[in-house]
Amino acid sequence: MTNNQTTILAIESSCDDTGVAVVRKRGEQVTVLAQLVSSQTDIHAKTGGVIPEIAAREHVQAIGPMIASVMNSAGVQHGQLDSIAVTVGPGLMPSLAIGVQTARSLAYAWNKPIVPVHHIEGHVYSALLENGSSKSYKLQVTSSSFPALALIVSGGHTMFIKVTDHLSYSVLGETRDDAVGEVFDKVARMLGLSYPGGPKVSVLAEQGNPSAFAFPRPMSHSHDLNMSYSGLKTAVLYQIRDLGVPLTEKNIADISASFEQAIIDSLITKLRFALESDNYRTLLFAGGVAGNQRLRDAIEQETVVKGVEFAVAPQELCGDNAVMIGQVGVFAFEAGRKKSWKEVEAIARVSIENFSL
Ligand code: KG4
Ligand code: ZN
Repeated sequence: MTNNQTTILAIESSCDDTGVAVVRKRGEQVTVLAQLVSSQTDIHAKTGGVIPEIAAREHVQAIGPMIASVMNSAGVQHGQLDSIAVTVGPGLMPSLAIGVQTARSLAYAWNKPIVPVHHIEGHVYSALLENGSSKSYKLQVTSSSFPALALIVSGGHTMFIKVTDHLSYSVLGETRDDAVGEVFDKVARMLGLSYPGGPKVSVLAEQGNPSAFAFPRPMSHSHDLNMSYSGLKTAVLYQIRDLGVPLTEKNIADISASFEQAIIDSLITKLRFALESDNYRTLLFAGGVAGNQRLRDAIEQETVVKGVEFAVAPQELCGDNAVMIGQVGVFAFEAGRKKSWKEVEAIARVSIENFSL
């Protein structure tokens, strides 16, 4: 910490988005000095999904110029940085390795410690921010917001986490098979939409009837916080086969709306169970699928009924980005999470609980 403030360069490269940000914390005030995200969506749309080696090659191309540009826009010299925060896992190994090796090289060259960050921890922390004025963010969560329940719904993960305090996590339940974002993408593909299809399905759903098809609400009565979405995916596939291709526009809209409703209902059932099982003050909602407006509204409504504060990530921070990694970075650095470049490595599979202080 320099002059009572912490300044962090943050790097995210766990999947197909390269993110770089400079984040500063002074007291309870967190400022994003500059940030960039470089998306590889167009490249992976051609192959219908992310090919790890191609993703890694794109990260290599993007990362150096992005770091130079973000440092420049932030007006920060490397001497003013306290640390470099980087996503070490979970994710695609070739992708993670680019961010981690970059952070290690810079940490060595600039003689800085590294703050290793768990990718899901990043998503959790993105919900701590709300939009302020002119692209800056305000902290909407204070120490009195804990214990909090975090619901993270993304392309790789769907999970409930108890956040007892800053940097203190226990996983309460998660999907046993596909993540919700992944199922959105697969249903989109069945409907002939390009990757990533989640947002396209939600746009089509606006025109459809959510009760047109009775898709299953998986594991609604399991009395736990585990989930399963592969059965729902198969039910959509069989429905499409029954209707016969090519589908009419009305069929496509109705399938989209009915599928989205099944996802919403199943997540709300689990959320209700979670909120009734413990005394939470706040719900933190984030991850790529938290960009879905109908889901945001349904979840907010449930928190209103239960009298729990609702903290959702700003729309533009729902997808992968480095602001969320820097956000964890400033809190974790101040709490003493500092590693030498030699100690940090990429880990494809790792639990968020390993990152609890
Ligand atoms: O968090 P994220 O950017 O990457 C991972 O860490 O997985 O999440 C990306 C996922 C994709 O599966 C994408 O289709 C889904 O989030 N997604 C959506 C929406 N926006 C993004 N799914 C449904 N509705 C949306 N509006
Ligand atoms: Zn993510």
